[in-house]
Parts: sequence; C-alpha cells; structure tokens
Amino acid sequence: MLGSRSIFQNHKLSALDTPNRDFSIKEWLPLKELAADKNILFGASARYNQVISDEQFAALFAQECSLLVPEWELKWSAGDHQLRPSPNEFDFSAADAMLNFAQTHNLLFRGHALIWHESLPRWFQQVVNHQNAANVMKHHIETVVGHYKGRMHSWDVVNEAIEYDPLASQRADGLRRTPWFEFLGPDYIDLAFRIAAKADPDALLVYNDFGIDYNTAMDKAKRRAILGLLKRLKAKGTPIHALGIQAHLRGDSLDFDPKSLRQFLKEVAALDLKILITEMDVNDSKLPADIQRRDRIVAGVYEDYLSVVLDEPAVIAVITWGLSDRYTYLSKFFPRSDHQPVRPLPLDTNLQPKLAWNALARAFQQTHKR
Ligand code: XIL
Repeated sequence: MLGSRSIFQNHKLSALDTPNRDFSIKEWLPLKELAADKNILFGASARYNQVISDEQFAALFAQECSLLVPEWELKWSAGDHQLRPSPNEFDFSAADAMLNFAQTHNLLFRGHALIWHESLPRWFQQVVNHQNAANVMKHHIETVVGHYKGRMHSWDVVNEAIEYDPLASQRADGLRRTPWFEFLGPDYIDLAFRIAAKADPDALLVYNDFGIDYNTAMDKAKRRAILGLLKRLKAKGTPIHALGIQAHLRGDSLDFDPKSLRQFLKEVAALDLKILITEMDVNDSKLPADIQRRDRIVAGVYEDYLSVVLDEPAVIAVITWGLSDRYTYLSKFFPRSDHQPVRPLPLDTNLQPKLAWNALARAFQQTHKR
C-alpha cells in the first residue's frame, strides 16, 4: 500500500514539476510597471501594522504595487481591528491610516468587504434580526462607502454569497444561507449593490468569490452558480461592474484546465462585466519540503493560471493576498505538516523576489495590452 502511495506521489510530483522550466524575464522592473505597461493593475493586500510599522516591507510594497487592499481593516471585525465596535460606532482609524499610506505612495485603494457572512462582530448576532437587517446593512454601507467616497478604486460589495460546495446546496441557485440571506432573502445582494452605488457612484462595485479555478465537479458547479447569480443581477439592473475571482490556488492540484477556465471568463465578460483577480496566492502546504522544487511548482501555477486569465481582455487587475511570505494568512490557515514555513507569495520572508515573482513578471510581459 505504502509503495503504491509513494509511486502515486512521485508520479503526481513529476506531473506538477518541470525541473528545467524557464522562468527568465526580459527586463527587471517592478511588477506594477510591468503590469501597467499592459494597462493592468498589480496590487496586494496588507494589514495596518505591516504598512505602518514594518518600514522595510512598506517600501517594497510601494515599489511593487499600484493598489492596496486592507486585509482586515475594512471588514466589520477582523484580527485586532474593529471597524464596527458597536451597532452605533465606526472606527476608521486604521483604514484611514492605510488610505493615507496609499495616497502618500500614489497607490489605488480598494475596499474589502462590505457584506460577508464572516468577520462579523460579536454584537451582530445579538442585535441584527429580520426587522432591522435592511437598516443595519444600509447604515453600514452608507457610512463606510460614504466615508471613502471618491477615494476608492473598487469595493467588494458582497463576498462569497455562493455555497462552498453548490452541489451540496438545497437551493438550485447555490446561495449560501448566510444571516443576510436568512433576514433579507436572495435580494440582499441586489440591495447591497444599490446602496453602495448611491453612496459612491464612482467606485467599481464587485461581487467577490472563490473556488472557480479548477475543472472539478465542485468548481464547475460554483462557476455555474456564480454565472447564474451574475446573469440574474444584470437582468434586474443591479449596479454591479465586476466579478472578483479570489484565486486562492493549490500547488498540488492536477485539475487545472485552461480551456474550461477560459470559457468561464469569456462568459463573465459577455455580461459586460470586468474581472479582477482579487486574492491570488498558491498554497504549497502539500508540496515537498525541498524549497527549490516547491518554488518552481508554485511559480508554474502562477504563470499557467495568469497566462489563461490575462488572455481575457476584461481582466483589469491582479491582486495577491499578501506580497511576501513574511505575511501570509496561509501560515495560520494551511500550515505544512512538516512545520516548514509556507512559501505562497511573490517575495520571500526577506522580501527577496522568488520564482513566483518571475512568473508574475513573465505573465505581464507576455500578455496583450488592454
Ligand atoms: C482572511 C484573512 O487573510 C485572515 O487573516 C482572516 O483571519 C480571515 O480572512 N477570502 C476572503 C478574505 O475574502 O477576506 C479572507 O481573508 C481569505 C479568504
């Protein structure tokens, strides 16, 4: 049994890894410049302390990125930050400081996420109900979007409204039964977009989700459910402008199928929607310990995925979820069983470019200008 498993593992690894794959690049320029040369935005998420207190990281961030999205500070409640300390309070201090950092370094600023079923403050469950949910949503979106009116590139208005596994859903539309759904019904999504559009007519309004990247039954069902949602929203005139594809990729997947992913992107674009890659990283927790091999496989995933995605002219931005392995949420959420540090992002913990950086650079250099 063990023998066959290790044979499978070896077979799988040789399918994932091309030892002499070329990741050379024509010209070493910051990723934001290589992307901008094709009218694509490159950016990343970061946390308050990373851009305010880690000067070395902040400098690299400003050098490589043209857009900043707070990982925590514009969620209702995340990590050590409470945007919503109580039903009647908003604490914009951290997000304001990050906006100031962005403006100082000429970075665009994007908001994540106005309506989600996660990162809700403790008081939410005690306070929000069928009667007041619409007013709570309206108060939150009007106040937060209004506070940053005219200064945001885009907002993730609704995040992850489709079931993790739509095949397991009792609903044909695959909608998650989130608190917002339970209190307001399926139209909570349309309502959120309409309130946001009124609060800031200039911001790009995005529906953001994950799990559409591979040719698995689950991802194909998720693609169908997201397309169905987008079609329904467009048909009712919802002011939605783009789909955000999180692109939390797996270094160990053998299910990547360029053709079906490309078709999905085409169908989204045909709805007159832009597409943003909003949270890209490559989970290497199931890859071998050997760093050279791991980095090569991760870089191959970045380049293979982006070569497909950037072929779609509607794709206007590539945003990674973190910029350096020094700060990645995967360390906590998907640690390696060998306890080795994970290596999912373009820069290593010492802020040095990895092959993943080359892969992004190559993808930007090889794609067409928008
Ligand atoms: C994650 C953060 O990175 C973590 O620090 C936090 O504990 C949980 O949320 N999809 C999303 C992001 O839309 O908001 C999530 O970010 C990662 C998955």
